[in-house]
Amino acid sequence: MDIDLPQISQILAKTLGQELTPDDRDFMLRMYGSGIAVYRNRLRAVDMLDQERVLDAGCGFGQWTLALSNGRNTVHGLDISPVRVKAVQLAASLAGLSGVSSRKASLTRIPAKDNCYDAVFAYGSICFSPWKQSLREIARVLRPGGNLYYMASDVGFAAMLWQEAPNSIPGYDPREAAVRSMQDTLHYRKTGRKKFRGNSHIIVSREEAREYLQDIGLAVEHIQDEGTISLVPGKAAPQPFYKGSYYGLPGVYEVLCRKA
Ligand SMILES: C[S@@+](CC[C@H](N)C(=O)[O-])C[C@H]1O[C@@H](n2cnc3c(N)ncnc32)[C@H](O)[C@@H]1O
Repeated sequence: MDIDLPQISQILAKTLGQELTPDDRDFMLRMYGSGIAVYRNRLRAVDMLDQERVLDAGCGFGQWTLALSNGRNTVHGLDISPVRVKAVQLAASLAGLSGVSSRKASLTRIPAKDNCYDAVFAYGSICFSPWKQSLREIARVLRPGGNLYYMASDVGFAAMLWQEAPNSIPGYDPREAAVRSMQDTLHYRKTGRKKFRGNSHIIVSREEAREYLQDIGLAVEHIQDEGTISLVPGKAAPQPFYKGSYYGLPGVYEVLCRKA
C-alpha cells in the first residue's frame, strides 16, 4: 500500500492553516518528511505490523498510525491535542484507510473496554503524561498476551536538548523543554501529578520503568537503546531515530513488553 506521507503533510498544512501553531506545523512536516517506509521498517522490527486491533497511544500527527495500518486491520489513534486528532482523521481519509480513526482522549483515561487491543504502540508519548497512570490504563485495555511497545527517555536526552537545542523555532525552545522536564520529573516524583502541559516530559530510567512494568503485570521482553530491537530473524534493526546515550548519560530507549 502506497502512502505518500510528504504529500499528505503538504495538504494537512494547507487545510489546517492557522489551526497549527508554527511549532506544530514544523513538527508535523518533519515527522511526515521521511516517508512511510522508515516507519514501517521500524514497526516490522518490533512485530507491530499486521496486528488486528491496535491503539496508537499519544499518536501526535499520526505518521505511525498510518504506518500501523495494513489496509485490513483496525487502528485507533488517541491524543490529547484536538488539532493532532483532526490531522490524523484527515490524513487517514487522504490515504484511503477506512480502518484508521482517531479521537481526543487522555492516556490516563482511555475510552476503551478492558482487554480490547491486540497491541498498543506509544512512541514518545507516555512520558508526556503521568507515565505510571498511563501505563496502568494501557495495561487495562491490552488483551492478555498482547504486546506494548513504547519509547521513553532518561536524563541524557534532556542534557542533549539543553546542549544542542535541536529544532529550535518560535514557540518551541528546546532548552526550556529540558528545564521544564527536570522540574516536571521532580514534581511528579513528589506528587504523582504532571505539572506542565505540552513540551515537557518526565525523565524515567530503564530501571524504574522495568520495575513498574513488572508491578502492573507487563513482562518486559526487551528494554534497550531506541531503534535497536529486531525480532526479524537474520535482520539487523533498522535506523534508530535517537541515541541510547548522550554525553555519557543514559538517553532514549525502547521497551517491548507482554501482558501476562
Ligand atoms: C512527542 S509527541 C509524539 C507523538 C507521536 N507519537 C510521534 O511519534 O510523532 C507526544 C504526544 O503525546 C501527546 N500527549 C501528551 N500528553 C497526553 C495525554 N495525557 N494523553 C494523550 N496524549 C498525550 C501529545 O499531544 C503529543 O502528540
